[in-house]
Amino acid sequence: MEVSSEIKKSYQLALDVRENAYAPYSNFKVGSAIKFKGHDKVFVGCNVENASYGGCICAERNAILNSVATIGKSEIEYVIVVTHEQEPAVPCALCLQTFAEFYDPSVPVYLANLDGIKKVVTFKDLLPIPFNSFTS
Ligand code: THU
Repeated sequence: MEVSSEIKKSYQLALDVRENAYAPYSNFKVGSAIKFKGHDKVFVGCNVENASYGGCICAERNAILNSVATIGKSEIEYVIVVTHEQEPAVPCALCLQTFAEFYDPSVPVYLANLDGIKKVVTFKDLLPIPFNSFTS
């Protein structure tokens, strides 16, 4: 699909970081790029697997955790996810719940494969009702 030159650049960052994915168990490499409002830097992440499968970290959480460590809590402007699959993959529910601390529901999530960006959805589409309180 047609996207702005900025989104194309960020897609390229996600595509490039996907090459660094450490996925010897699933052979499913994922790359992600996240842009925050008011910040120029685009944060990237790839999935990192572990022989103890529960220790696997998704690309999206790798990117968001790095962003928090670097710039603190910021509002997500958009997210890009790249896999090799023809039908582009969406972030898993655990990643969506992690993102929920940092997004407005209308924020776009660009879903891509190796050919480019294929679809755009919103966080609200992907996780309509995140868990957000344990006090009430
Ligand atoms: N994976 C991601 O990186 N992001 C997702 O949203 C879903 C799954 C990774 C985790 C694991 O390394 C591999 O893909 C297969 O599940």
